[in-house]
Amino acid sequence: MAKLGVNIDHVATLRQARQGTEPNPVWAAVEAELGGADLITVHLREDRRHIRDRDVELLRHTVQVPLNLEMAALDEIVAIALRIKPAMATLVPEKRTEVTTEGGLDLAANAPTITTVVGKLTDAGIKCSAFIDADLRQVHAAQQAGFAICELHTGPYALAVAGSAYDRELERIRAAGEEILNCGMQLNAGHGLNYTNVQAIARLPHLSELHIGHAIVSRAIFIGLRDAVAGMKIAISNVD
Ligand code: PXP
Repeated sequence: MAKLGVNIDHVATLRQARQGTEPNPVWAAVEAELGGADLITVHLREDRRHIRDRDVELLRHTVQVPLNLEMAALDEIVAIALRIKPAMATLVPEKRTEVTTEGGLDLAANAPTITTVVGKLTDAGIKCSAFIDADLRQVHAAQQAGFAICELHTGPYALAVAGSAYDRELERIRAAGEEILNCGMQLNAGHGLNYTNVQAIARLPHLSELHIGHAIVSRAIFIGLRDAVAGMKIAISNVD
């Protein structure tokens, strides 16, 4: 069964709505762990719209499972990652105007910068994951850049409704997943997954981790984060 990385950014989104102290992402991480989270993920964005530097510091010292820091390859954020040393860093593209991460990294277009960043993070003992679209060129570019892990962007799959688009997106993910494994990298997937669309992705052979945030935090508003995480663990395990 794939491990579950729980993204708690939107707990901080709610806190920042009042720029106060609650709800506290550190409490959220504890609840997520008690629900069975195998990793905790936060995205320290350049504009600090939800997670703040202090959150990452505190989480690094309190989270018992591996901490995954989502980040852009920006000097300022790389310096923070090198100082705090999360277990894992997932490199993502970032645009100030986007509501959420819109697409995968264009590794081919940014190869020198990304390769340097991956080298620095890897030398510091941080496992590096590339968030990429299900595109074989990006898989090969990730291998070239030295990534140990690729996280396939499941957003287009999540947006596709049942029918030919759905089948096409699922097939693209399957083919890219196979190539990631052939290239000797770890296969992860995430973005836009929820309690009903996760099963087809969880069935991918040799999938290591699923990274899910919005659907879990949304359900947590009604049933609590611990149960929302536990429910997602059940959804992931209910695959043939
Ligand atoms: N993986 C990556 C790389 C992401 O940027 C995000 C969104 O922060 C997620 C997974 C989780 O996506 P969602 O919140 O749609 O579950």
